[in-house]
Amino acid sequence: MKGKMTWESPSNIALVKYWGKKDNQIPCNPSLSFTLSNSITTTSCDWEVRPHSSYEFLFEGHPNEKFGSRVEKYFNSLKEELPFLNSIFLRIDTKNSFPHSAGIASSASSFSSFALILTKLEEIIEKKTFNEDSFLKRASHLARLGSGSACRSLFGPACAWENELFGTPIKAHPVFNTYKDTIVVIDQGVKAVSSSQGHALMNNHPFASNRYEMARENYKKSINFLQKGDCASLGEIMEQEALMLHGLMMSSPTPYVLMKPSTLNVITKVQNFRKEKGIPVYFTLDAGPNVHILYPQEFEGEIEKFIKDNFGNFPIIFDKVGDGPNLKDFELF
Ligand code: DP6
Repeated sequence: MKGKMTWESPSNIALVKYWGKKDNQIPCNPSLSFTLSNSITTTSCDWEVRPHSSYEFLFEGHPNEKFGSRVEKYFNSLKEELPFLNSIFLRIDTKNSFPHSAGIASSASSFSSFALILTKLEEIIEKKTFNEDSFLKRASHLARLGSGSACRSLFGPACAWENELFGTPIKAHPVFNTYKDTIVVIDQGVKAVSSSQGHALMNNHPFASNRYEMARENYKKSINFLQKGDCASLGEIMEQEALMLHGLMMSSPTPYVLMKPSTLNVITKVQNFRKEKGIPVYFTLDAGPNVHILYPQEFEGEIEKFIKDNFGNFPIIFDKVGDGPNLKDFELF
């Protein structure tokens, strides 16, 4: 039995942040995100059932040791849950639509694309029966085991990670179906402290329990604002969450700063522009220096001019909220 398939899967941007985890990729608080549209990973897989397992990993068509060893570790960790991984050849070739190290979380789009491949193989080889919902739920669970935030990339336009094991789609007000996310790439370098190290530092963090309590409150409020279409109230929470995330880094047992002077410059200008114009434009940050600027589509002309005029010396990625993954190609031989 053999075949091939190609999946496209998006990245996502958290409004309420996942920061701090327990064993088995169980988060310490619920989180909420918008699924992106243009920032995607495309992963092709050629596969064949064989007596023993062997994998080949390619990044943009070429072998990549660092990437390959993380994915191999992930596949090996799933052998008990997915027995077909003990007797299969897999050639995985993956590429991102966004520039390498552009500050977009590629682990979310990559691991969700791998999880979709694994779920499809489980359906074919293990003869598991899924409907559309249970298929995505299973893929979300498997994606979470690779990278926590990846479990939120399976559903759009908004996705909640509330029940610990997998993400669930959130019905959002129509204004959010066309919401824009423009990313000002302040620094493309590798982060001094990775997200995994950052999560670990929450274990002995003096503010951990207050943080988890606030995240739970922000999560509840955000779901309500998302459903009502209250961009301003959601934006206030989004900014508080971004600054709290970085505040947690700066106050962790081993303190560190990932923002750059230009990050603060962009943030201040976005806030001033909002006050001056009365437009609901808000920022958020991932675990890095780059700034995501979010706003309703109806203001895109004015806001994109503001962004280009003020931050045009940095690379800029124009993205928007999207629907989730797509199966692009599927063949059984
Ligand atoms: C700041 O999902 O990258 O982007 O589970 O260790 O792979 P691992 O962590 P990861 O953490 C993402 C942290 C964040 C916030 C978020 O996306 O919720």
